[in-house]
Amino acid sequence: MTIQTDEVMKAAQEVEVSESQIAVHWREEEYFVPPAKFIGQANASDPSIFDRFTEEKFPECFREYADLLSWDTYWHTTLDTSNAPFWKWFVGGRLNASYNCVDRHLAKYRNKAAFIWVPEPEDQVTQAITYQELYKRINEFAALLRDFCGLKQGDRITFHLPMVPDLPVSMLACARLGVIHSEVFGGFSGAACGGRIADSKSTVLVTMDAYYRNGELLDHKVKAEEAIAEAEKQGQKVDKVLVWRRHAGKYSSKTEMVKGRDFFVDELLADYKGKIVEPVSMPAEAPLFLMYTSGTTAKPKGAQHSTGGYLSYVAGTSKYYQDIHPEDTYWCFADIGWITGHSYIVYGPLTLAATSVMYEGVPTYPDAGRPWRIAERLGVNIFHTAPTTIRMLRKLGPDEPKKYNYHFKHMTTVGEPIEPEVWRWYYQSVGKQEAVIVDTWWQTENGGFLGSTLPALQPMKPGSCGPGVLGIYPVILDEEGKPVPKGSTKAGNICIRNPWPGIFQTVYGDPDRFVSTYYAKYNKKKDSKDWHDWPYFAGDGALQAEDGYYRILGRVDDVINVAGHRLGTKELESAAITVEEIAEAAAVPVIDELRGRAVEMYIALKPGQKPSKQVEEKVSGAIERLIGKVARPKNIWIVPDMPKTRSGKIMRRVIAGISNFTSPGDITTLANPEIVETIRQQVQSEKVKRGETPRELTAKELEEIKAFGKAE
Ligand code: WT7
Repeated sequence: MTIQTDEVMKAAQEVEVSESQIAVHWREEEYFVPPAKFIGQANASDPSIFDRFTEEKFPECFREYADLLSWDTYWHTTLDTSNAPFWKWFVGGRLNASYNCVDRHLAKYRNKAAFIWVPEPEDQVTQAITYQELYKRINEFAALLRDFCGLKQGDRITFHLPMVPDLPVSMLACARLGVIHSEVFGGFSGAACGGRIADSKSTVLVTMDAYYRNGELLDHKVKAEEAIAEAEKQGQKVDKVLVWRRHAGKYSSKTEMVKGRDFFVDELLADYKGKIVEPVSMPAEAPLFLMYTSGTTAKPKGAQHSTGGYLSYVAGTSKYYQDIHPEDTYWCFADIGWITGHSYIVYGPLTLAATSVMYEGVPTYPDAGRPWRIAERLGVNIFHTAPTTIRMLRKLGPDEPKKYNYHFKHMTTVGEPIEPEVWRWYYQSVGKQEAVIVDTWWQTENGGFLGSTLPALQPMKPGSCGPGVLGIYPVILDEEGKPVPKGSTKAGNICIRNPWPGIFQTVYGDPDRFVSTYYAKYNKKKDSKDWHDWPYFAGDGALQAEDGYYRILGRVDDVINVAGHRLGTKELESAAITVEEIAEAAAVPVIDELRGRAVEMYIALKPGQKPSKQVEEKVSGAIERLIGKVARPKNIWIVPDMPKTRSGKIMRRVIAGISNFTSPGDITTLANPEIVETIRQQVQSEKVKRGETPRELTAKELEEIKAFGKAE
């Protein structure tokens, strides 16, 4: 599909573009109001809450969050900015996170389920772990870590654990001792884990022999060997490997246990039965855990989160934005290996004495009705997941939710922008039009939500996360640091003007990178101790509508510049997905002599749909109608599936590599690596036929293609 040069140039002239601007053509979506039934029971239903969090009340407004916790010593300084931008919250305060998540609930909720764990195989029994039982397991494992491993306050430990209850037990046992845990997502390779062991200088690795995924008992311990070898290569020796067993007493891995190094946790625990470990009273600003933000192009950054600030922030946001009450059955369908799981499966819900559901496996195993069966059986009433899961369930089982008798009062979407079309399916089909939806925008580095609607008090708008949350004051800045006014159709860089308790403390071991990545861009006075001088640069493009709601456009480095017209990938994909045959869409840039870059669109169809010229034309038509001629894709490729990470994100750099005849890069972290070759053959042979083989790319162009899409 080619377009006339003058049309392109004309389109380009119509918009003035600077680096930070992304051309925006979204249409305003209509509001959806929360159901009265929800408002009646909500934790935040009185609008006076907004007065308590106005900017004049900052930072003292966050006392309200900290007061949700039990402190051993109350703090004397709410926010200390003396070493800006290394903020300190609740200084002078002492507390223990494990105590706050478990011990303090025992008097009232001893026999209430803290976790309900659903194994992937449907014939295995669901387990409810009461607060009392959790307390016991945490204490026993803490005793083991202290007495057998010799770990103490401030030491780091790496976990490479799947979605099993042993993971939160391990986390909370560390928290009890003041040991800093660093959980690496179970789906990551051994080498990725090894790099993180080395960076955090952990001497102990906690792993598991095997776990279920897509109907298969996967060997996981095998990755430990790779991890230890990689860590050693990077100069870090692992002394002990603690191996939880998926089936107690039975070893399900093919790798040998190394004598003197590897130990079965269930065997060791026999010596610690009934042991009680006093929770260590930690300073508020002591680190609680590290969470590495992934990256294939750059070294992962260990986001260091604090004890007092972080825990206050996840408690407050869980209460008001997730609307968690102790009576709720709350299911956050994410992996604890991501920040979402740390904040909103474990730490946030548990501070509020919730019942938190954990599911071991994939959403569509054995079929796309599985999540709804779980919801029905357990009586889940709060459901929290990511657009990628929602799209997958919509694709494979659009009519499944109505077959099951569950009722959600509240649903969340998190992790990437959600296409309004997908939002509507979530609302209508999954939520049965009875549930509120919060679209929560934030990042690993942030601890908890930054942008969202307060569910009983602010209407929802598909595709927009909403305004800044309580106590968060965002601003959109252009490249020069000038605010972009609301209601403008121009996008810019979304920043947070103020510090907040959940913000990470530093990049572990690399404070310079902390400052240069997140604060240097808009800071004008290096020595300033005034927080007003340190806007936090999130790295996302966004625009703000007249009503104050933000629309997040994705990473600022994820734009396709067609003849000077900066197009957001998400906007292109949202336009494509309005075509009813389409389940998923991914936009990538292709080097184009005429326009600099042109758009190529990859499409996956809903089941039962067949590839056809008509579908391609519908997609082009939708993009042209909703965005403009300039965005019309050069090619549309209907592919059997998209290359995806284990967390379900489409790896755009892989298809960008294919489109540009360059290397797709590392594909070892893909859930479906085999699809890459299939797509490559399909696309490149057709391009050769059409005479579209590109010239040799410059180093800069190669770098751009390689880095396209957010690094996973
Ligand atoms: C990036 C952070 C936060 C937990 C999971 C992801 C994108 C996140 C949204 C949302 C639009 C979103 C941003 C952000 N993102 N939530 N609701 N709407 N975009 O954590 O891996 O650190 O990724 O995800 O681009 O910067 P992460």
